[in-house]
Amino acid sequence: MVYYVRFLKTPRIQKGSITALICITTDLGDAFLAEDADLVLTVEKDKEVVYKSQIKWNAYNRELPITLGPLPVHLIKTLVLKVDAEAEPPSKSKSISEPDLSSSIPLIVGAISAPFGPQNTPAAKLVQRTINAPEAVKLQVWEETGNSIARHIWDAGLATVVYLGETLQRMSQDVKRNKATKSPLPALEKVLTTSRSSVIQVVELGAGCGIVGIGLAQMLSNCSVLLTDLPEVEEIITRNINETRPANVSSVRYQNLDWEQPPDDLCSQPIALILVSDCTYNADSLPVLVSCLDRLVRTSPEAIILVSLKRRHESETVFFDLMRSAGFRSVQDSMELPSEHGQVDEIEFYCYSRDVRV
Ligand SMILES: C[S@@+](CC[C@H](N)C(=O)[O-])C[C@H]1O[C@@H](n2cnc3c(N)ncnc32)[C@H](O)[C@@H]1O
Repeated sequence: MVYYVRFLKTPRIQKGSITALICITTDLGDAFLAEDADLVLTVEKDKEVVYKSQIKWNAYNRELPITLGPLPVHLIKTLVLKVDAEAEPPSKSKSISEPDLSSSIPLIVGAISAPFGPQNTPAAKLVQRTINAPEAVKLQVWEETGNSIARHIWDAGLATVVYLGETLQRMSQDVKRNKATKSPLPALEKVLTTSRSSVIQVVELGAGCGIVGIGLAQMLSNCSVLLTDLPEVEEIITRNINETRPANVSSVRYQNLDWEQPPDDLCSQPIALILVSDCTYNADSLPVLVSCLDRLVRTSPEAIILVSLKRRHESETVFFDLMRSAGFRSVQDSMELPSEHGQVDEIEFYCYSRDVRV
């Protein structure tokens, strides 16, 4: 299980010192990191480090107060606080089929605060995550500090960005070596191939903060990504879209889309790839999710669907039955994420396409 540094109280300057309250918890917020960790606290002003300190998270902690200072008067300006795990040896995320092409997802995902100023007002209730995707792509995504399901990053989203990056990396290495490596999800590689002249249309359902679709648009040229979700994510996802730098001839935009009422005219061009990450946790919404996928693929019969998930309940297996009944067939792969005490956690990937016999 990956753990995320969360601000329970965002940083502020009080009586000349920076104060904040953090915890280190899972994406669901249902468990705290139960091992000791050394954390590095970095204060930046205009992207320059002006103060650095360390603090220890103990295995029994549920929260950890931070106090830095008193700061010299010339530093009482608009600042940003970063909280990161001390350079732990990066655990390797690993695709079962290609173990040596992995990049690192740390056990503890650090946090960067929104700016806070000298007037004792706390930073906005936001946190920025930095994801080091393959090919030196640095993805920066804002999420909220609260407990909203939609407005923060989930493990499968994090893993999917790295998985897509690794797939693209392997494909480009194959081109350089003039050699085809066996692909775990050949239909996905076919869609992602860069030797195509037209811009591919990608739609993400339940995009949350937009980590997956934005990550793809940053890593893949010639793609048009439409992120969709319920209206509650519009503000955070728009912030992330505005700060992204898509690859050559790629673009990202957002549209509200409720799985219960997908519009018939979502894209003017046929959709090539539909992304669905960590959206199968709620068994009640699975019938509408599958019926939405079915409707999208009826208008774009060549589309493939990449579903990524972390198993949370037995009830999620209904998803696979519903997909089968709707005439979809899948090919599967998986990736390991680091977990406490040297253990690993699994993220599953299913690449669905319409069974031509249906
Ligand atoms: C667990 S979050 C995953 C977010 C993101 N894909 C990730 O991996 O970080 C599930 C997302 O599904 C969205 N969702 C749930 N029900 C939905 C519906 N009926 N229509 C559209 N989106 C929905 C939620 O708003 C939420 O953003």
